[in-house]
Amino acid sequence: MKQADIRRKYIDFFKSKGHQEIKSAPVIPENDPTCLFTTAGMHPLVPYLMGAKHPAGRRLTDYQKCIRTGDIDEVGDAVHLTFFEMLGNWSLGDYFKKEMIGYSFEFLTGKENLNIPVDMLAVTVFAGDEDCPFDEEAYRIWNTLGIPEERIAKLGKKDNWWGPAGTTGPCGPDTEMFYWTGPLPAPEKFDPADKRWVEIWNDVFMQYNKTAEGKYEPLAQKNVDTGMGLERVTAILQGKTSCYETEIFAPIFAKLDEIRGVAPVDGPRSSSERIIADHLRAATFILADGITPGKVDQPYVLRRLIRRAIREGRKLGITGSFTAEIAQAVIDSFRDVYPELAERAATIREELEREEKQFAVTLEKGTHEFQKLIDRVPPHITKKVISDKNAFNLYETYGFPIELTIEMAKEKGFEVDRAGYDAAFAKHQEMSRAGAEQKFKGGLADSSVETARLHSATHLLQAALRKVLGPHVEQRGSNITAERLRFDFSHEEKMTPEQLAQVEALVNDAIARDLPIVCEEMDVEAAKRSGAMGLFENKYDARVKVYTMGDVSKEICGGPHASHTGELGHFKILKEESSSRGVRRIKAVLRPE
Ligand code: ALA
Repeated sequence: MKQADIRRKYIDFFKSKGHQEIKSAPVIPENDPTCLFTTAGMHPLVPYLMGAKHPAGRRLTDYQKCIRTGDIDEVGDAVHLTFFEMLGNWSLGDYFKKEMIGYSFEFLTGKENLNIPVDMLAVTVFAGDEDCPFDEEAYRIWNTLGIPEERIAKLGKKDNWWGPAGTTGPCGPDTEMFYWTGPLPAPEKFDPADKRWVEIWNDVFMQYNKTAEGKYEPLAQKNVDTGMGLERVTAILQGKTSCYETEIFAPIFAKLDEIRGVAPVDGPRSSSERIIADHLRAATFILADGITPGKVDQPYVLRRLIRRAIREGRKLGITGSFTAEIAQAVIDSFRDVYPELAERAATIREELEREEKQFAVTLEKGTHEFQKLIDRVPPHITKKVISDKNAFNLYETYGFPIELTIEMAKEKGFEVDRAGYDAAFAKHQEMSRAGAEQKFKGGLADSSVETARLHSATHLLQAALRKVLGPHVEQRGSNITAERLRFDFSHEEKMTPEQLAQVEALVNDAIARDLPIVCEEMDVEAAKRSGAMGLFENKYDARVKVYTMGDVSKEICGGPHASHTGELGHFKILKEESSSRGVRRIKAVLRPE
């Protein structure tokens, strides 16, 4: 079964069970400062899992673009992917365990569906602890459906509990489904430690909200959140040991063979080939969602992905530009599923070409410099170290990401003073990209009064920027904590002090007028007709919320917001700076009058 068939079967199955299909959100979370990327299908749904009303109803299903960078160093092996798609379905306070486990069983084993024989399956359920009891109900349901007791394992929080990628938010016990990938017949008794049992689906019974203090508070509604890794399931159902051996990656590898001028390869790909395919696939999706390479946060991760791919390309003997061509292969194979790729194809290619040119120059100079450092160390020295100062110089002057220096050093038997480098880097940067996740509190799951007010201020800010700078201003990112807002927008030049003062004055004027903030639900077409601002054309579901603030602002948005602009206080811009190429960043606060 092909990837496209599995994706379609999943969505159609849940539609037949009364679910509405919703669109994949961008890989860059909106207004969630706890994470750099969307890491799971539930991620964009956090406000609704917390109790907000979803315009599409209580039963939802989708395929979601996800990025997980935690595994980046493991890319190149058979299983880890930076970009992947997650199939998911949700009950927002609607059905619960019995229905969900029934749906899972039916989808996995049904002839019209995945048609997996029951004796190839095993499951785990939550064993219970001080926060939540043994999930006997899930155990019984599976058993009644036909999973024998010896194929049901009871495990603790480490395995059978799911929370979001950030440290706080909705969570709960889960039940996971496994498929036997070893020689047949599958063993009668399920041993979860045996890696030949591969996890394919996870049903989370989301009943708690984990607070910043680490407490588990019952959620107002009981939800179901499920996730199935599409690439992994595709590989397994095709009897392949690696996602890279499926048709998903074939066009990328074919393009790579063509660029290298080698005969098409049949069989496992090298680690360099897999890294190139994985990283440039992820980079293409990140670029499509409006991020360009830069020095912190998502732009930094993007730069790192592209540069690592280029370096692997050099290892394979590719000397010219190649990343844009690989991206085109990604765009072509996903254009029907994610139309934003084709829409932004020109920008994606341009950005890759620019980054590649820039990196080629620095890479050459830096490699030379690096070799000088290596040569300087006499052979009899056993502890070979590249100092923090030199590592930082390679970053600063030659654009080497630290990870690249570490990797190159390792190849030569050198260590890098990473701790010293980190200290130097942190001093130099206002905020290190890796620490970003820990540095903020609040956000999406935070519907505090302060956050809601800053959210409303962000709408007024965007409207003011468009008035002062022009209609080319579009939101490129937004990140709100209870203390401040941070807004990224498309604009080439640094703003002048006069422009900043004008923007502040416009926002404060809208606040002084105490405009009512009105939320209406409508079809996306009606929202567009009404002139509401939105991000990318195809980002939204059929029904959306539109927030209007008098004649000043009308925007598609999930909320939360204040009820009148008069509640906001005094708006003050703290900083205006570059975020990445063509994107400016404003940090601002609201102060009591
Ligand atoms: N959110 C759950 C996961 O990612 C379903 O596994």
